[in-house]
Amino acid sequence: MSEPYDAVEVITTKRDGDELSDRQIDWVVDAYTRGAVAEEQMAALAMAIYLRGMSHREVAGWTDAMIRSGERLDFSALSRPTSDKHSTGGVGDKITLPLVPLVAACGVAVPQLSGRGLGHTGGTLDKLESIPGWSATLTNEEMMLQLEDVGAVICAAGTGLAPADKKLYALRDVTGTVSCVPLIASSIMSKKIAEGTGSLVLDVKVGSGAFMKDLTGARELAETMVRLGQDARIRTVALLTNMQTPLGLTVGNALEVRESVEVLAGGGPPDVVELTIALAREMVAGAGVPSVDPADVLASGKAMDVWRRMIRAQGADPDAALPAAAETHTVLAPADGVLVTLDALAVGVASWRLGAGRARKEDPVQAGAGIELHAKPGAVLRGGEPLMTLHTDEPNRFERAVGALAGAYVIAPEGSRPDLLPIVVERVV
Ligand code: URA
Repeated sequence: MSEPYDAVEVITTKRDGDELSDRQIDWVVDAYTRGAVAEEQMAALAMAIYLRGMSHREVAGWTDAMIRSGERLDFSALSRPTSDKHSTGGVGDKITLPLVPLVAACGVAVPQLSGRGLGHTGGTLDKLESIPGWSATLTNEEMMLQLEDVGAVICAAGTGLAPADKKLYALRDVTGTVSCVPLIASSIMSKKIAEGTGSLVLDVKVGSGAFMKDLTGARELAETMVRLGQDARIRTVALLTNMQTPLGLTVGNALEVRESVEVLAGGGPPDVVELTIALAREMVAGAGVPSVDPADVLASGKAMDVWRRMIRAQGADPDAALPAAAETHTVLAPADGVLVTLDALAVGVASWRLGAGRARKEDPVQAGAGIELHAKPGAVLRGGEPLMTLHTDEPNRFERAVGALAGAYVIAPEGSRPDLLPIVVERVV
């Protein structure tokens, strides 16, 4: 059967800075998914989009075409409203773990379809899979039953949702076309809209550990995604949040689970608690239950109860001991003074080199690997005090991890102050 368009014409249209028509977009996304547009042609088109950008009409059409490449879930039969959160990814970003049970404990069902990590940012499924026996794979029916019963699910996105994005994301990853607002926004929103949530909160990270290094880029990404969500009649808001320094005091799979459980038990680092509550308030309000304050629900212990039921429902024992790495190495503060910088990207890369992350998607991850921070920016330190502890099963990894940390921390004379953004920098509606 002959094709209605020629891929080269679509590529040259965008290469020359012209807009693609709705029909060209529908065709090229569909033809790529079924293999009628070759990988090298889509690579060229992705690069043309990267360099030339897209109008909002084009991004909306591209998102819609990717949604239509697969199935759509529908949670409207549930007895409670639904809300979901998406984070653009950061270092030590374990917020999904305490947030999902907290929002469920507030009376809102949370269908959280997550992924595995690639590169320096960890994946939610990798973190949860460090709990012995926990299963990320649920059928759509199992997901519905668990949502009705427990109210909270965190599981792997099935292959049926936005298959065009799956194929395109893998291609972008190897062609230098990931960090492009129209392509990131359509990728994230196609999956979230296809997932069928009633409301959505986007945590758009800004800083060295994030895709978006500066506020201007983060704001543009947030505004594009919020508009796409609203176009699809999903109540969508975005928070721009700080990713200059890691979130919390742990980076790495089992280490982050431990810290998340501390938050659910009423403790945990203040930045993790603050962001969890800020996002939970947005989700609860978006779902139309604004009279419940997640801070009170967290303090009541009800979120911990939901966590335990959620972990049990997916095959694991919430009381099981978490794996620990075989070896540790402590990095000491080199001088007296105030820690003014602790760079998120460098800590993320070091944790990845210790074995907590993967370089290729088929690589295994170590459950116990990662970094425990003993100080955060603003802390007053004495020379020789522990600054961080590195964890891995393979001690030959320490040297490269320590290498990644060169220049990652700055200790300034006493009285200095770190120049940091607040945890929640801005709200975009
Ligand atoms: N996450 C996604 O799902 N897609 C992107 O393009 C970037 C981050």
